[in-house]
Amino acid sequence: MALADYKAVEGHATALRGISRADEFLNFRRDEEYQFQARVFQRSATRLAEAARGKNADAVLLSYLDLSASCVRCHQTFRAGKID
Ligand code: HEC
Repeated sequence: MALADYKAVEGHATALRGISRADEFLNFRRDEEYQFQARVFQRSATRLAEAARGKNADAVLLSYLDLSASCVRCHQTFRAGKID
């Protein structure tokens, strides 16, 4: 994703935030840890969309890194049957 293309970043972030609110995503696991990770993801997507709307390059970069970290963290915890 080209970080300088604010319109595109905002569009992607809004789509991701939509996913993060979908029942299927949120109900994948009901436990506290998953719900926490899902909320972190949702918040980063919201911040990324806001940063892109405000054309704030530093905030875009920071929230993008937060978002990427939240993808990896949740996968590390919940995929490959590490927690069942
Ligand atoms: C709150 C937890 C959580 C977050 C945050 C999350 N994922 Fe996932 N993701 C999962 C789980 C759980 C699966 C496995 C689903 C299953 O086994 O049915 C998955 C599967 C996937 C897959 C399917 C491919 C595969 O190897 O199984 C992709 C692609 C993916 N995630 C991308 C992302 C990206 C990109 C982000 C961040 C923008 C992200 N995910 C954020 C929990 C999360």
